[in-house]
Amino acid sequence: MDRSITEKTLQAILDISKEINSVRNVHSLLERILDIALKNLNAERGFILLRDEKSSELLTAASRNIDPERSSDLSEISRSTVTKVKERQKPLLAFDTQEDVQFMAAESVILQKIASIACVPLLLKGKLIGVIYIDSREKTAGFNQQSLDFLETLSNQAAIAIENVKLAEALYKENELLKGELHRVYAFKELVGNSPQMKHVFEMIGRVLNNDVTVLLTGETGTGKELAARAIHQNSRRKDKPFVAINCAVIPENLVESELFGHVKGAFTGAISDKEGLVEKAEGGTLLLDEIGEINVNLQVKLLRFLQDHTFIPVGGTSEKKVNLRILAATHKNLEEQVAKKIFREDLFYRLNVLNIQLPPLRDHRKDIPLLVDHILKKIARQSSEKRKKISAEAMEKLVAYSWPGNVRELENVLERAVVMSNDDQINPQDIILMKQDSRSYIEPGMKITQVSLMLLEQTLKACNGNKTKAAELMGVSLRWIHYQLKNKAVR
Ligand SMILES: Nc1ncnc2c1ncn2[C@@H]1O[C@H](COP(=O)(O)OP(=O)(O)OP(=O)(O)O)[C@@H](O)[C@H]1O
Ligand SMILES: [Mg+2]
Repeated sequence: MDRSITEKTLQAILDISKEINSVRNVHSLLERILDIALKNLNAERGFILLRDEKSSELLTAASRNIDPERSSDLSEISRSTVTKVKERQKPLLAFDTQEDVQFMAAESVILQKIASIACVPLLLKGKLIGVIYIDSREKTAGFNQQSLDFLETLSNQAAIAIENVKLAEALYKENELLKGELHRVYAFKELVGNSPQMKHVFEMIGRVLNNDVTVLLTGETGTGKELAARAIHQNSRRKDKPFVAINCAVIPENLVESELFGHVKGAFTGAISDKEGLVEKAEGGTLLLDEIGEINVNLQVKLLRFLQDHTFIPVGGTSEKKVNLRILAATHKNLEEQVAKKIFREDLFYRLNVLNIQLPPLRDHRKDIPLLVDHILKKIARQSSEKRKKISAEAMEKLVAYSWPGNVRELENVLERAVVMSNDDQINPQDIILMKQDSRSYIEPGMKITQVSLMLLEQTLKACNGNKTKAAELMGVSLRWIHYQLKNKAVR
């Protein structure tokens, strides 16, 4: 072989090696390889086939001036050359086809005036991963053995480069995935947890972010249902629009509908003007129907309709309105039980429960308690602009051992109190007062009013042998208030 050509080839190969190893995407890489082949061999057209990982068929991965899928573009001779290379896994040269008697008969050769074909396999560790094909209709660009050698060397380089780029792409994808997950954990920074239970919650939240699927958040009181609802909103595409929550347990039963859907002037006594409902306030954003288990059957029917097509009629109104929002619902109640008891409509339950995210009770993921304590102490310090208190190991032990009927909210309350109680910059076991173990029956200055009222309620109930109606009468409160107090008992 002529030395100068070898040097030229060598230089070309070196350049190519540098060039193709800097391309980071398979498609651009293949196009570069083709261009190099065409330029260096003075060829006119070319394509690369690559083995598809799923079907293991050879499919077109890149092409120049030719479409191998189109029969008018590819002659019989081209086709049979590719097939031979595929089968034999050896380079093949078909030059001067027009003068080659063997090919003269092939009509397409005449029609297409193909002068030369060079075709080489792309082999990786002895396995065929594809084929490089080039041809030329110009007689002047007749390929020879050197052309084939060049193409073969190029194909060896290319096979490695393709493998590398594929690996890099896979790594990149994996990395992006991991970054996404990191981002996700970070994005839910208000929602703390590292336990498998909480990770499952994060994963479920992650799954519903980019769609408008209705999510039912369930879990005991204080487990973070509302917080999770906010996390969904804040990380969804609706984040720049309002997040509106309606607590169906707190609003008097007869007012829930007008709160939700608004009312027109004169709809009922006190409706002195038109009022926009919360569904309209949430336009474009997210609406949380909190304590959904509390709504009455009448409203359940209307809600079902609203969930179906997002249309509603304000109380006392006649015309239908429509809004665009995402609906989330939360409850600490077992809705399935309520359905069985016919207190909750089955069809509404299924509409709400398209996807259920269950927040675990804190006693089931005690592992998260130190993390939560740290998070809450930081939060308290931030809110009071005071230095963050530390916590002794014994105090932490006490917290981890407790059963937390009021879940994270109870933990927050206990810590708030402990921060106030502790004399130095550290929280000690005696600063931690736990409701269950230490249920005091006396009132002292500085106690929360909610705590006092609950204590009073419990004592009254005891005196009335658990008769709530009687207790309500004695205390001058509604039965509903009593139910609400008892429901949130653990939280105080
Ligand atoms: N995983 C968590 N990480 C950090 N804070 C949490 C977590 N879970 C709950 N909290 C905190 O606990 C308190 C109660 O949470 P939230 O109001 O979301 O509970 P809930 O399930 O809606 O309770 P309820 O049924 O009583 O309405 C909030 O102050 C919230 O910030
Ligand atoms: Mg709540």
